[in-house]
Amino acid sequence: MTNSFKKVNGITGMKDILPDSSYQWNELEAILRAWTAQYGYLNIRTPILEQTRLFSRGIGEVTDIVEKEMYSFTDSLNGDQLTMRPEFTAGVVRSAIEHNLLYQRPQRLYTMGPVFRHERPQRGRYRQFHQISVEALGFSGPDIDAELIVMADRLWKQLGLSNIRLELNTLGQYDERKAHRSALIEYLEKNANVLDEDSKRRMYTNPLRVLDTKNPDLQDMADNAPVLFDFLGSESKDHFAEVCNRLEDAGISYSLNPRLVRGLDYYNLTVFEWVTDSLGAQGTVCGGGRYDDLFSLLGGKDSPAAGFAIGLERLLDLWTQSNTIKESSECHIYIIHQGEGAQRRAAVLAESLRDDGYRVVVHSGPTGFRAQFRRADSSGATIALIIGDEELAQSAVSIKWLRQTADDNSQQQLIPMGQLAEFLKSKGVAAWHMT
Ligand code: HAM
Repeated sequence: MTNSFKKVNGITGMKDILPDSSYQWNELEAILRAWTAQYGYLNIRTPILEQTRLFSRGIGEVTDIVEKEMYSFTDSLNGDQLTMRPEFTAGVVRSAIEHNLLYQRPQRLYTMGPVFRHERPQRGRYRQFHQISVEALGFSGPDIDAELIVMADRLWKQLGLSNIRLELNTLGQYDERKAHRSALIEYLEKNANVLDEDSKRRMYTNPLRVLDTKNPDLQDMADNAPVLFDFLGSESKDHFAEVCNRLEDAGISYSLNPRLVRGLDYYNLTVFEWVTDSLGAQGTVCGGGRYDDLFSLLGGKDSPAAGFAIGLERLLDLWTQSNTIKESSECHIYIIHQGEGAQRRAAVLAESLRDDGYRVVVHSGPTGFRAQFRRADSSGATIALIIGDEELAQSAVSIKWLRQTADDNSQQQLIPMGQLAEFLKSKGVAAWHMT
């Protein structure tokens, strides 16, 4: 048949996770679930699609994410403005408000899955990527900010990652940031004669970004600009000092980075990022902080909250740089057969072995014994069971060990069908895969 259909490719920046790496993802996700459970976090799963205004309101109209990175479209069936989630926090808070989750008690929640941002793809930066997002809802104290950071640190240790460091800052409260902003604009106006065009343009829209300038001529000006910390009241300062104390209790070192502002607008007080030099340009593995104003911003009852998210592609990249993750085999037992009767017997035998908990593959495809043995070998199974004419006639099955085991099992053995279960049990075939 001639094929006139033009091949369809995947979308730029959205990767397939193939079996040669999906086992690493599964392993990592299992570790992440066990880790969140250690801190009492429960799983929440929200839809990938949300109303666009959830993100423009929650993340902020004048952020890169909302201005240029969201996959938004009009639902052609009803005209709704929808967006594929670019992060989890706004959706989790929306859900907590909608279902009144904080009615009786605060909630520790985590969620994991794909998120979408239309960025320029490169190593560590994709258009569909994965996050685990950890959200402590209804907690106001600095103990929680510190616990979240300690929690992340435990994960790095569990994964054997050492080349990762913590950057910390406090953004104070809204009014404090407002006062700082006015002072900053005033300062920039006074220094207008030294500003470049870019800085002049941003002076009123995003004066903090002016301080982030790469222009060496502006470094002096930036270094002497008013700093937010000087505008913080005692409550904000105490909160931050308490977070720092607790990090010192936990033996976690950090560097204070007054320029750390994060790319989402919902933060207040503590913000942090975990960064590494081992991933090239995209070195931020984890980012988060406190977001006490998000509930009320999204129309809910005022509730404090804090959390963070980890980029899983970046985490996996780091993890596999220093660890070899054992590839799991397709099956414990691979069944080889010759002739129609044998094939039917093999299918029935496989089901009874699965009843006993084994992972079993029955050969399907080329019928030659050599080809079948080759497939059996590449499946990673411990043993091949063989059913041919002779075995069929004797109601037995031959066993061939495909891997080197402790005792010498290199000989093919004939076992009566009725004794097979007992034999496999005595040899610990499934347990062998755990080692
Ligand atoms: P975020 O800093 O935008 O924070 O993203 C968290 C992490 O996702 C980043 O540190 C990075 O590892 C990863 N990431 C971001 N963009 C990409 C991309 N294009 N490709 C691959 N990985 C990426 C948030 O999303 C907040 N919701 C975190 C949070 C939770 N704050 C409080 N709770």
